[in-house]
Amino acid sequence: MSDIWVQPTGGALGADIHGVDLSRPIGDSVFQRILQAWSEHLVLRFSGQKIDDDMLMAFSARFGDLDRVPIAAAGFDRTDSVLPKEAEAWVAVISSIVHNGKPVGGLGSYELVWHTDMSYNPLPPRASLLYALEVPPDGGNTGFLNMYSAYETLPDDLKRAIEGRTCIHDSSRNSAGELRKGYQRTLDVRQTPGAVHPLVRKHPVSGRKALFLGRRPGAYIHGLSVEDSETLLDAVWQHATQERFAWYQKWRIGDLVMWDNRCVMHRRDAFGEGLRRLMHRTQIVGEPVLAG
Ligand code: OGA
Ligand code: MN
Repeated sequence: MSDIWVQPTGGALGADIHGVDLSRPIGDSVFQRILQAWSEHLVLRFSGQKIDDDMLMAFSARFGDLDRVPIAAAGFDRTDSVLPKEAEAWVAVISSIVHNGKPVGGLGSYELVWHTDMSYNPLPPRASLLYALEVPPDGGNTGFLNMYSAYETLPDDLKRAIEGRTCIHDSSRNSAGELRKGYQRTLDVRQTPGAVHPLVRKHPVSGRKALFLGRRPGAYIHGLSVEDSETLLDAVWQHATQERFAWYQKWRIGDLVMWDNRCVMHRRDAFGEGLRRLMHRTQIVGEPVLAG
């Protein structure tokens, strides 16, 4: 019997799950406790884990079907993959490490702006699970934002202004701002490629409303002039990204952190160039986005 213990971070979101060994099968009652904690705290951290890609995929698959890895940045060559063939389609490598002159993973060591994973897809993933294999001594912390709180505290005029509105989520660039393979630069946000989603979404499990912003670059609110869209987006983003809605994860080797993309945004601090950081990530197929 595993003795699971949920310890909230005390911040705007997030909890540690103690007493669970992810290298072993997890019984249904423990899994139900994990699901419950996830629904309450939005981000869960399992520390001190020792898992390989098969174990990461097996645990991830408890939350739904695995989703395919995102399209890599131009210049990143997956033929250098460090992953076994079976894992390549499902496990994304996020790394600053350069091996034989080539990066072993995506996203380097630079800052990642606030974003929701793969929200530029029509069916954005419900969850992402990120497992730390190597971490730098400092820097590279990952911040999470509680998008329920961001919505609930939105001033009434902004709530009214975004009600029923949809926004484009840019598929051409990754969260580091790099152009993905096969995409062109776009200057007019009305031409931004990517999925269109409601700005307020209803969480299919909790039934609560959350702001759904995706990422700021390339965003455009349908039906508004570019100028009005920019002004409204700036105001909503300024509100949503306040520190009071955020909690930061300082990584240690063996941490597995999972977040709910339906009600959480995240970002990453830069870290020293040349420092090694290696993470493996899975993502879980989502359901159609419900307008809030
Ligand atoms: C991700 C991501 C953050 C990090 O994997 O989706 O945004 O800390 N990573 O590397
Ligand atoms: Mn991300």
